[in-house]
Amino acid sequence: MLVNPKQMILDAQKGHYAIGAFNTSDLEITKAIISAAEKLKSPVMVETSEKAIAYAGLEEMSSFIIAAARKAKVPVALHLDHGSNLEIVNKCLNVGYTSVMFDGSKLAYSENVIYTARAVVAAHRNKATCEGELGSIGGHGKSGKFTDPSKVPEFVKNTGVDFLAVSFGSEHGIGADERLDIELLEKIQRTIHKTKTPLVLHGASGVPDKYIRLAIKNGICKINIDTDIRHTFTKAIYEIKNKFPDPADPRDIMTKVMVEIQKVVEQKIKLFGSVGKA
Ligand code: G3H
Ligand code: ZN
Repeated sequence: MLVNPKQMILDAQKGHYAIGAFNTSDLEITKAIISAAEKLKSPVMVETSEKAIAYAGLEEMSSFIIAAARKAKVPVALHLDHGSNLEIVNKCLNVGYTSVMFDGSKLAYSENVIYTARAVVAAHRNKATCEGELGSIGGHGKSGKFTDPSKVPEFVKNTGVDFLAVSFGSEHGIGADERLDIELLEKIQRTIHKTKTPLVLHGASGVPDKYIRLAIKNGICKINIDTDIRHTFTKAIYEIKNKFPDPADPRDIMTKVMVEIQKVVEQKIKLFGSVGKA
């Protein structure tokens, strides 16, 4: 079923596990994510970046994700990942996304607060949730900025975000050294003991499993995975294509690719501890 993710994330917070938020840009990845969640009886978030939306088309992609989510036997939320402006936030809400992220991490702090707060109002008006980002997650050649714990309570209060993405050592893509600063995460966590705002880990591909477990123990309730899925997709095509006649039926190739993507999503769901929580 298609759901707003608030409850699944609050349940994860209470149960000390995390919800996997997996990026998609096509039918095959979407189907593999939902099949993995169904097999493991786990709630799940399917998310799309602006790049994915530009690739597949917003109406096209949201239609097939929403159709698949509605048919799913487990709760599935549809989330905009790293929305950089209010226009894309509103467009996604209008086509039925049940959650959005406003990423104001490139803005000055005061502007990040103003625009994130507006995105929260728009999301809540549409019965959706809104995630914000404080500090910035680097990667792909850009350096990030660790979250300043002293700014967290004020940011949460002034924006009203449902979930907060924080930066404490991960980066987008596969970094050379993605050890997490768990002490910093603990400090952040302590600052929000009143609001108990669920925290989000971005850039989780490339982060050693041991750190993922520690992050969950210290308040991470939603974990974003993109690169591991895309790498699995292309690697599978390269490895599988020679096993088929040339020319081959793409549906035969894609069926095998989906199996490989599903395996990776299942591994992550097990690591995040959300098996059987649907
Ligand atoms: O927003 C998306 C995620 O942070 C994905 O990061 O590509 O390192 O898995 P990743
Ligand atoms: Zn991210």
